[in-house]
Amino acid sequence: MSLSVKHLLGIKDLTPEDIDLILRTADNFKDVLQRPIKKVPTLRDTTIVNLFYENSTRTRISFELAEKRLSADTINFTASGSSVSKGETLIDTVNNILSMKVDMVVMRHSASGAPHFLAQHINASIVNAGDGINEHPTQALLDAFSIREKLGDLKGKKVALFGDIMHSRVALSNIYLLTKMGAEVIVCGPPTLIPKHIEKLGVKVSYDVRKTLEWCDVANVLRIQLERQNKPLFSTLREYSLYYGINKAMLDSLKKEIIIMHPGPINRGVELNSDVADSKNSIILDQVQNGVAVRMAVLYLLAGKKEE
Ligand code: CP
Repeated sequence: MSLSVKHLLGIKDLTPEDIDLILRTADNFKDVLQRPIKKVPTLRDTTIVNLFYENSTRTRISFELAEKRLSADTINFTASGSSVSKGETLIDTVNNILSMKVDMVVMRHSASGAPHFLAQHINASIVNAGDGINEHPTQALLDAFSIREKLGDLKGKKVALFGDIMHSRVALSNIYLLTKMGAEVIVCGPPTLIPKHIEKLGVKVSYDVRKTLEWCDVANVLRIQLERQNKPLFSTLREYSLYYGINKAMLDSLKKEIIIMHPGPINRGVELNSDVADSKNSIILDQVQNGVAVRMAVLYLLAGKKEE
């Protein structure tokens, strides 16, 4: 069994079989991570560069840990403190790193399409760790893994994505993944934060948080991405929280238990109150933990493509 792609640029390019293969491979790596010795020799002699042109806490640490657990050699590059400040281009930077015999590139960039552009110019496998407002494929994979771990098969599950859908690469990757795997998806937020014609991607739109919470099995609450909004799209954070934030009273009023997810970082008191983020319904830290096994699976399967 192998992936149909050489790079992981987005969920858009994956088949349902690819997604299933990644999730089943991650099951095995999750077992490895429960053992006293969490390291396997699988990627010994493979060198991976983590190329981060944009800030990250979870994704960067998770990839680095996944690489170390697979016994790969790792190099961490952050744009700040590098020769990017002297005007060096993306391709020159990457070609210089690759000339030192690097096999794979994990890349985060604020420009949508940056990893796709790079993939046209270099031979090494590229893993997109988040590109602008486009995709964040490993986040959607770890979200899917976490839902499947709690609720079983994704087919028929009702997943609601709340918040800033317009600027969220997590939303787009989740929409591609969940619809490919047969889940039902509703996006919910203020009209100004929901892209026009998003229904064409196979999702429904709601502007009513309470009704959407009543409908869903899983609420994946997304961050308000103020850094990507070049003009105000709602009046104040306080008003956003009042109309679109999720609080414990809302959860308590539901007739069923639902799962609360968030990709992080959380704006506590804006999209999610602390009493929800830290409640027994929340699987936010499980998502982070599962990210390591999922990224191990992605790196392992892409490294296997090189051998073919
Ligand atoms: N979920 C996520 O991408 O978090 P970071 O920005 O901290 O990597």
